[in-house]
Amino acid sequence: MEKLSSLIACALISAIAKNPIFTNAGDPDILTDFLVPLSLNASNVTRQYFTFTNFRYFEAKANLTGRTTAIIAKATLKEFPALNGQSVSVDKIIYPPSGINPPHTHPWSAELLIVLEGILEVGFVDTENQLFLQTLQAHDLFIFPKGLVHFQVNTKPDCKAVVLGVFGSARAGTVSIPASMFGSGINVDILTKAFHTDDQIICELVEANK
Ligand SMILES: *[C@@H]1O[C@H](CO)[C@@H](O)[C@H](O)[C@H]1NC(C)=O
Ligand SMILES: *[C@@H]1O[C@H](CO)[C@@H](O)[C@H](O)[C@H]1NC(C)=O
Ligand SMILES: *[C@@H]1O[C@H](CO)[C@@H](O)[C@H](O)[C@H]1NC(C)=O
Repeated sequence: MEKLSSLIACALISAIAKNPIFTNAGDPDILTDFLVPLSLNASNVTRQYFTFTNFRYFEAKANLTGRTTAIIAKATLKEFPALNGQSVSVDKIIYPPSGINPPHTHPWSAELLIVLEGILEVGFVDTENQLFLQTLQAHDLFIFPKGLVHFQVNTKPDCKAVVLGVFGSARAGTVSIPASMFGSGINVDILTKAFHTDDQIICELVEANK
């Protein structure tokens, strides 16, 4: 019995070590209160280091005129180094009237969407290709499961919408579906076959995603 359970433990450990699903499960835990970047030393770490103020003027400055897609301000590891090792980050997103945030995924984290203003239709597609759609209003929350394709639409033609997207990773990563398919240089022949269409349509999509 003991032998069997140690065998199972060994198999589990080796599965965890080899399986990218487990190894990418989240940001690694840190063994200190917080991490100090190499460019600073501990005496440089003050309350300012833990404070991020770049969202203050984002909404006032955002120019929505003529836009059809959302404007996104990020507070991830890159913009806010104190997040390093803390397994959290935030995007603030403003949608112009009738604007969208195109289909995309975050490979390293789920996203908790918090609606601050406006009405949004949101959706994600699971690994069975099932579409989950929902309409949200201010104060509502919606969770996009980790790694799944999702999008948001401001359904109001006359008002903006504003949300926070909160991630369980300091660097959730974003893969845009249109850009990764048509803006990455994948061979037109592959895309023509994959999308069951002709070269001309694929070339138009490639041109539009340059
Ligand atoms: C850290 O800061 C202290 C105080 O300013 C300074 O004396 C020390 O040389 C610095 N250490 C490094 C490694 O930069
Ligand atoms: C770190 O602190 C020292 C004084 O303690 C200062 O001279 C230095 O400019 C600071 N470095 C940064 C990157 O803020
Ligand atoms: C906002 O964007 C529009 C369209 O690009 C442009 O015509 C306008 O000058 C911009 N307004 C400001 C205040 O920058």
